[in-house]
Amino acid sequence: MELVSSIQKYYGEEIQNVSDLKTLACCTVDSYPKHVKDVLLLIEEEIKNKYYGCGSPIPDALDGLKVLDIGCGTGRDVYILSKLVGENGFVYGIDMTKQQIEIAERYVDVQTKRFGYKKPNVMFIHDLIENIDEYFEENSLDLIISNCVFNLIFDKEMVLSKIYKILKNGGEFYFSDNYADRRIPEHLKDHPILYNECMSGALYKKDFIRLARKVGFMEPRVMSENKININNPELEALLENIQFYSITYRLWKIEGLEDACEDYGHVAIYKGGIKESPYKFILDQTHVFEKGKPERVCGNTALMLSKTRFKDYFEIIGDFSTHYGEFSSCGTTVSNNASTTSSNSCGCSV
Ligand SMILES: C[S@@+](CC[C@H](N)C(=O)[O-])C[C@H]1O[C@@H](n2cnc3c(N)ncnc32)[C@H](O)[C@@H]1O
Repeated sequence: MELVSSIQKYYGEEIQNVSDLKTLACCTVDSYPKHVKDVLLLIEEEIKNKYYGCGSPIPDALDGLKVLDIGCGTGRDVYILSKLVGENGFVYGIDMTKQQIEIAERYVDVQTKRFGYKKPNVMFIHDLIENIDEYFEENSLDLIISNCVFNLIFDKEMVLSKIYKILKNGGEFYFSDNYADRRIPEHLKDHPILYNECMSGALYKKDFIRLARKVGFMEPRVMSENKININNPELEALLENIQFYSITYRLWKIEGLEDACEDYGHVAIYKGGIKESPYKFILDQTHVFEKGKPERVCGNTALMLSKTRFKDYFEIIGDFSTHYGEFSSCGTTVSNNASTTSSNSCGCSV
């Protein structure tokens, strides 16, 4: 409870806008695609001034989806999604900090009108993320997103397994958060600024992968990874050599996913049709599909393209009847260069 009130006080009272942050750990370094930049122009300044995200958790092909943003703050990402899911979609945001949720709610009518909708397609919930299963049934959401929040959650395993439960089969948790290149030492865990500014609650990258697999998200895929420039010499001295990274992951809930890329001889062809990506679709950091070009893919990638909302946009040739061994172009090399991602050449996190 002490932790909860410290976070609430920080985001509700101590910081009023991004310039009050003591580090650059809650500042987005990813660049936004044009369709997201266009929506950002339509969002109220007060919402954007109190945005403390560290990535861009906005995937493609959102039309008509039912989405939840966990730790939505003042709702910047909720409103981006509100526009992108369209009038037939719906976006929920949950956050425990009253002052943040009040700002998000203040602009529901303004944003609804600005997007040209007859009625709102957003709803904000003032509560703990830990209680999401009280609001959403099992297998009920297409997409859950989050931006710089997961590190702040105390019981990460409990929350991640609730996220898994309330997602539909074929749904995904697509989120940006901070990770460390090692486990955070005990003496730093309770440091108020390091915690509230999304560093000392961050997981060691490999522990996150282990946790994701434990709750059922078998093969996390990296969308982007950026080294964080903390920009605060005093705090950097405390951290000594610990490096932090902002990573956007895509975690799928798909029956049959394996914990590694295996070769069953599948081929995938992007047929086009995704509005934001007419000629080239990016599944993850290392899977880019040019329209019409056949690509050999592992069994997991075949499932991600055939058992999800992307199924109408891909032709998948092959089945799982014959196993040809490890997917050949999936190396197992982990990069030694700490500034690059620790994923293999298939995009699978290792
Ligand atoms: C770094 S801010 C990011 C806010 C928002 N995603 C954004 O991009 O502006 C972290 C947010 O997570 C919320 N938060 C942290 N832990 C939470 C929890 N257990 N339950 C609900 N909200 C939580 C805080 O209230 C705060 O608004």
